[in-house]
Parts: sequence; C-alpha cells; structure tokens
Amino acid sequence: MAGDNHAVAGAALPRHIAIIMDGNGRWATKRGLPRTAGHKVGAETFRTIAYYCKDLGIKYLTVYAFSTENWKRSADEVGVIMALMQRYLLELMELMARDHFRIHFSGDLTALSPNLQKLAQKADEIARSLPDDYCMVNACVNYGGRDEILRAARKYAADCVQGTRTPQDLDDNLFSSYMDSAGIPDPELIIRPSGEIRLSNFLLWQCAYSEFYFTDVLWPDFTPAEIDRAIAAYGQRRRRFGGVTQ
Ligand code: IPE
Ligand code: IPE
Ligand code: MG
Repeated sequence: MAGDNHAVAGAALPRHIAIIMDGNGRWATKRGLPRTAGHKVGAETFRTIAYYCKDLGIKYLTVYAFSTENWKRSADEVGVIMALMQRYLLELMELMARDHFRIHFSGDLTALSPNLQKLAQKADEIARSLPDDYCMVNACVNYGGRDEILRAARKYAADCVQGTRTPQDLDDNLFSSYMDSAGIPDPELIIRPSGEIRLSNFLLWQCAYSEFYFTDVLWPDFTPAEIDRAIAAYGQRRRRFGGVTQ
C-alpha cells in the first residue's frame, strides 16, 4: 500500500504533482463504448489517485479536468463530464475534513453551472478552515493556461488603474499571487498519460521548471503503480534551474 512501496521508498517526493487526465475517449472507443463511458471510469481513477497521492504525502495535486477548449465537444459529452465533476468533487468536499483534503478550483468558473460555482465557493470556505498541511486537490475546470494568465494580467492592470499597484511592482512572485494557483507552489512533476506529448494549455506559467513524465497508459487504466513509476523517474532527474550540477 501507499508509503511502503519500494518504487517510491527513498525517492525524492515531489511536493506538487500535476496530472493531465487524458485518454478517456480512446479508452471507451477501443471497447466499442460511448466516450462518456470512459469519462465515468476516468472519474473513478481520479478518486483512487487522489487518495493514493495523499497517502504518499504529496501536499498538492493539480488535476486537469476540463479545458477552456473542451467546450468544442458535443453537448452530450460536456454534460456528462460536468455531471461527473460535480458528483466526484462534491463527494470529496464532503469528506475533506475526515480524509484530510482541501479542494481548490482553478479556471474561469463564471461559465460553469450555478451548482458547480456554489460547490467551488463552499469548498474554498471549508478548505480555509482546515489545516494547511492537508493535501490540496486543485481541480482545473474550464481552465486554460493562457486564460489564467490573461485574467491575472487584467486584475493586475485594474489594480494599477485603482492606484494600489504600479507596473514597476510586478515581479514573478507578485504575478503568481494573481493567478488561480496563488499560494500553491509550482508543480515539480507534471504527468500526462494517453501518449500525447503536449501541454494542451495546462499550467503555462507554473511549468517553467517542472519535470515532465509521459506515458501511453490511458487515464481510465492509470493506477497507483503509474504514480510510483513517475515519481521514480522524477527521482532520477537532475534539476539545475539554469545553474550547473555540483
Ligand atoms: C480527457 O480524456 C478528458 C477530458 C478532456 C475532459 P479525453 O476525452 O480527451 O480522451 P481522448 O483524448 O479523446 O482519448
Ligand atoms: C487536455 O486534454 C484537457 C484535459 C485532459 C482536461 P485534451 O484531450 O483536451 O487535449 P488535446 O485536444 O489532445 O490537445
Ligand atoms: Mg484527450
């Protein structure tokens, strides 16, 4: 079980893992099932992986659940994804205190249903009352890296117009505090299953020095052992941040 796994024992543990939960549609199509069947199994995978990461001691888990571009899909598929997000995030929210999670939402929530917006608001309220060392699940919903940067830039510009900030004040840390991920350290490790080798608009600001791990496994088939493999690979990386290895 978690914690006593040999693949991760002794390996440097990332504080923050981010996952692009991709491959649900292909998983279903391969089985002759509708794409939505893949999303249903993928939602179960999310739950399993969230608990596994928490048990390992990962402090922040960011998951890409729905992008600003995913609205291009059929209304039926979008509807099923939204309903699943609501169900699984609500469940996690109700168990936050008991199971030591905190949920946070990233993305432009204004386009979501009133129910999902309420859930996000309530999750934030509850999370604020919980200890800082509980594992934070950062759910990216209607999220785009460019959109997040644009919204942050707009907010900053508005503060400049108000006179509370000046253009000269702006630096890395201050800009980060305007992002949806304010207060969350950048992910050390970004995982993308499904065989695609791209970011698809995920965490464009935060990924500056992230390590990447790609696997062909489709998200519904993704298991805790895959997390162990990704962490083991991460443990082999030499992170230099532009410097030189001593
Ligand atoms: C990821 O799986 C879920 C979302 C993008 C919402 P996909 O639905 O993209 O699955 P594939 O990539 O088509 O297999
Ligand atoms: C990225 O996957 C978004 C999520 C997993 C939520 P996509 O399936 O939307 O990305 P592309 O279209 O393959 O780049
Ligand atoms: Mg996809």
